[in-house]
Amino acid sequence: MRFLILVLTVPAVYCVEWTRVPNDWPVIGVLIQEFGPPNISYIPSSYVKFVEAAGARVVPIHINRDGAYYQKILPQLNGVLFPGGSVGIENSGYAIAGRVIFEYALRANQRGEYFPLWGTCNGFEMLSFLAIDENVLTPCNAMNDPRPLKLTPYAKTSRLFGGLESDLLSHLTKENTTANFHEYCLTMTNFTKYGISQYYDPLSTNHDIDGLEYISSMEAKHYPFYAVQFHPEKNVFEWVNREGHSNIPHTEGAIEVAQFFARFFIDEARKSNHRMPSDIFERESIYNFQAEYTGHKSVFMQTYFFNE
Ligand SMILES: *[C@@H]1O[C@H](CO)[C@@H](O)[C@H](O)[C@H]1NC(C)=O
Ligand SMILES: *[C@@H]1O[C@H](CO)[C@@H](O)[C@H](O)[C@H]1NC(C)=O
Ligand SMILES: *[C@@H]1O[C@H](CO)[C@@H](O)[C@H](O)[C@H]1NC(C)=O
Repeated sequence: MRFLILVLTVPAVYCVEWTRVPNDWPVIGVLIQEFGPPNISYIPSSYVKFVEAAGARVVPIHINRDGAYYQKILPQLNGVLFPGGSVGIENSGYAIAGRVIFEYALRANQRGEYFPLWGTCNGFEMLSFLAIDENVLTPCNAMNDPRPLKLTPYAKTSRLFGGLESDLLSHLTKENTTANFHEYCLTMTNFTKYGISQYYDPLSTNHDIDGLEYISSMEAKHYPFYAVQFHPEKNVFEWVNREGHSNIPHTEGAIEVAQFFARFFIDEARKSNHRMPSDIFERESIYNFQAEYTGHKSVFMQTYFFNE
């Protein structure tokens, strides 16, 4: 409902603003997520590398902070990435911070400040929730399941897929290049029935292991918000190869697909003319943290841990 009110009453005007940039020094906020033990939270390094390899720098966005923290840091970032994971999309620390970021992004774009959002997996699921303030996901079976995308009629004219060249199109739609690791799905039925379709266009679908068809990518109609249910970052940066985690595609096509998504998102961030003062960047950036090797005990090769 929230999205409805804001979207319908105040259209985004970013198209005017971003013609004045590009900003070749983009800084992306990557949202931290809580972890099992109390007060430990993390970002898999693959998301940081995904952003860095496309030409941007990363500032982790902390969870469980007061409003002043978010209101100060968000106007200095050029976009936010919501990583995958396994937390609740309504009330977790990740979700509470996610809502603050989402509402900020709506208002910033309405003011003419281009501010893109990218959701991967858990992030996709959270963006579907935030659109209508209702969780309409259904349990499904799509773990360790790489698939080609089945593009919808919206894809051709979309921002995300509208300019796809034929090689990339082929990698994306004919090969198993999108790595799925999720147990909840957004079906076309619920997408339409609960009105997410008023705010987002569905760009592709996939079938899960049991044949359920679900939406695997979407973009907001009037905002630079993008969400994918699969994990492009894993294709390039995750190599754990254990039972239940053995099917990450690493083919040349899979790498191109992953880099395409990263470059698309960072190109969007270049349209944002927010700037982070260098003293704040020095204090807040991911370079202040050390990634740990975790490939022997988790599904991530390296992980950044935080105490919060
Ligand atoms: C977690 O953080 C909260 C608030 O900072 C603190 O009150 C609590 O004692 C911490 N718990 C642990 C187990 O460290
Ligand atoms: C639709 O959403 C409801 C929750 O509101 C969920 O219980 C149900 O499984 C979903 N159905 C489909 C077909 O996605
Ligand atoms: C993709 O993976 C499925 C199994 O999940 C397999 O049946 C299919 O042949 C694969 N397709 C390609 C093009 O490799």
